[in-house]
Amino acid sequence: MKIFCRPPAHILAVFTIVLLSCFDACAQTQDAQVLYQRALAATCANCHGTDGKGIENAGMPLINQLTENNMLAQLLAFKTGERAGTIMPQLTKGYTDEQMQVIASVLGKK
Ligand code: HEC
Repeated sequence: MKIFCRPPAHILAVFTIVLLSCFDACAQTQDAQVLYQRALAATCANCHGTDGKGIENAGMPLINQLTENNMLAQLLAFKTGERAGTIMPQLTKGYTDEQMQVIASVLGKK
């Protein structure tokens, strides 16, 4: 009786392809995640500038000096009404707390 000590080459090839495509799918998932995070943060750029850098004395607060935790705290305070404002109280109601956490992690000072 013939005993196979190792799988035939074509089985190994199929296994390798399946394995590689799993890595590829994983990389794509990560890309999609990063794109989602950036897209969320980009919704703030109209008023606060790219990456929250904005333009000094242009009438909109620059938010890139806030830490992640401080930014999230401000966003939650606007959302609950604890902090007053003109635009931000309405705007923050359109985001879930999880989305604001993501935005703060992208835009918060590193
Ligand atoms: C339509 C313009 C507009 C957009 C879009 C906007 N903001 Fe604002 N933001 C303001 C204004 C105006 C203020 C000042 C407070 C107020 O009047 O609501 C402010 C204040 C803030 C503050 C407080 C800054 C400080 O110094 O305490 C933070 C934090 C902030 N915004 C974050 C964001 C984030 C994050 C987004 C995206 C989800 C965003 N803003 C989108 C206009 C905007």
